[in-house]
Amino acid sequence: MANKTFSAEEASRLYELDRTHWLHPQGDLDAPPGTIPQLMFASGRGAILTDIEGREYVDGMASLWNVNVGYGRAELAEAAAAQMKSLAFSSAYGGFSTKPAIELAAKLAELAPGELEVTYFASGGAEANDTAYKVARLYWKLRGEPGRVNIVSRIRDYHGLTYGATSATGLANFWKGFEPLAPGFLHGPSPDPYRYAGQGSAGEAYVRALEEVVLKAGADTVAAVVVEPVQGAGGVIVPPPDYFPLLRKVCDKYGLLLIADEVITGFGRTGRWFAMEHWNVQADLMVFAKGVTSGYLPLSGVMLTRAVHETLKTVKGPFQHGFTYSGHPTACAVGLRNLQILEDEHLVERAAEQGAYLLKRLQDLRSHEIVGDVRGLGLVAAVELVRDRTTKQLFDASAGAARRVWLAALEEGVIVRPLTGDVLAMSPPFVISNEQIDKIVSVLDAAITRVEKELKTTV
Ligand SMILES: Cc1ncc(COP(=O)(O)O)c(C=O)c1O
Repeated sequence: MANKTFSAEEASRLYELDRTHWLHPQGDLDAPPGTIPQLMFASGRGAILTDIEGREYVDGMASLWNVNVGYGRAELAEAAAAQMKSLAFSSAYGGFSTKPAIELAAKLAELAPGELEVTYFASGGAEANDTAYKVARLYWKLRGEPGRVNIVSRIRDYHGLTYGATSATGLANFWKGFEPLAPGFLHGPSPDPYRYAGQGSAGEAYVRALEEVVLKAGADTVAAVVVEPVQGAGGVIVPPPDYFPLLRKVCDKYGLLLIADEVITGFGRTGRWFAMEHWNVQADLMVFAKGVTSGYLPLSGVMLTRAVHETLKTVKGPFQHGFTYSGHPTACAVGLRNLQILEDEHLVERAAEQGAYLLKRLQDLRSHEIVGDVRGLGLVAAVELVRDRTTKQLFDASAGAARRVWLAALEEGVIVRPLTGDVLAMSPPFVISNEQIDKIVSVLDAAITRVEKELKTTV
C-alpha cells in the first residue's frame, strides 16, 4: 500500500465540502449520507487507482471507459506542458489554426476507416454528437431536402447528456425530469442477441424493426441513423454479426446518413482501431471522444467523409457552428502523443489479447445461478444478472442486484460499473495485466456468491 496522502481530518473536511458545494455528474441526490461510497482518488499508475487513504483499486472501468493507456503517463503530461509553454490556447475560428490541431486532424484521417477524412473538434462526446446531428440536418438542407430532419437512434444507446444527445439517448432514466426533449429524435430497438426471442436471424429482425421506424416517420423526413457500434452504458450490447452490414443497406436504400458513435469503442477499445471495422461497415460520420486522449484532457470530434464535407462546402457564408475549445491546441497535442503511445506500444493489439483473456475468465462466473449472460468485444465486457436463467427474468430494480455486487467488489479493491438492467460493465485500461484481470474475476466471483445469498434471503 502507498503512504497515506491525507490526514483523516483533512479527508473528512474535504468530503464535507464536497457534499456541500459540488453537484456531481450523475450524483445520487437522494442518497442519505453514508449510503453511497465517497471515494477521493489521489493517484494512479497503469490500471491501479490509489485513494487518499492509500488503498489501491484495480480500475476495471478505466474511469469512464476512457483511460485507455493507463494512469501516470509522464509523456502525456510532458506533451501538455510543452504545448502550454509555447501556446496553451488560441482561437480556431475561421482561418485561425495551430500545428497540433492540424496534425491531429491529419493523423485521424490516416487512422479512421475508409472515407472518413475530415475532422471537426469539440471537447466532450455529447457536444460531438450534437455536432453530428446538426451536420446531418445541414447536409440535407444543402442537398435540397430540407424535410430530412429526424435522427433515428436505438433504445439503450447512450450519446451523452446535452439536449440533442439526451434526446438521441435511448435510456428513459436520462429523460425523466428534463422533458420536453428536443424534437426530431426517434428510437428503434436495441440489437440485443441475449434477449432476442424471435425466429430467424436476430440481426435481420432488429434492422427490419428499425426500418419500420424510418418508414413510419417517412424515409424522406429522416436525416440520419446514429448508433453505438457496441452499446456501452445501455448494457454492453454486442450486436449480431449481420446487424451492421444490413443496417448499412437500409441506410443506402433510403439515402440516410449513418453516424457511428465510437466514443467508447474508438481508438482500440474493441481490439480494432474503430469498432465498425469488425463488420467492414463504412459510416458517413463518426463521433469520437474519450480514448483520443485517454482522458488526459477533454477532446472529442466528428469525422466526416469527403462526400459529406464536399456538400458542407456548398454552404453560403460561414459554418455557423463552433465551440471556444474546438481544436484546443493543448488537448490536440496530448491527443497526438496518446495516439503515438497506442501505436508504439501496440496497445490496440494488446486490447484484443487482454480482452480475449478477460472474456475467457469471466465465463467461469456462469457457474452462478444469477449470471444470465457474459459478453464482450475486445476489452469491453459485461456480466448480466438475472433472477431466472431460463426465462431471463430480471430482479426487481429495488433489489439492486448489480449495485450490490459493485459495492461488494469495491470493498475488495475492484472497480466495475453497475448499469441499469443489472449489468456489470468492465472496460479496463489496455495495459491491464493477466494478474489484475484474475483479481477482477475472483473478486466478482466472491461478490456474486455473497449477493446471491443475500438475494435468496431478502428478495
Ligand atoms: C457512446 C457515448 N457517446 C457519447 C458519450 C458522451 O460523452 P461525454 O460524457 O464526454 O459528453 C458517452 C459517454 O459515456 C458515450 O459512452
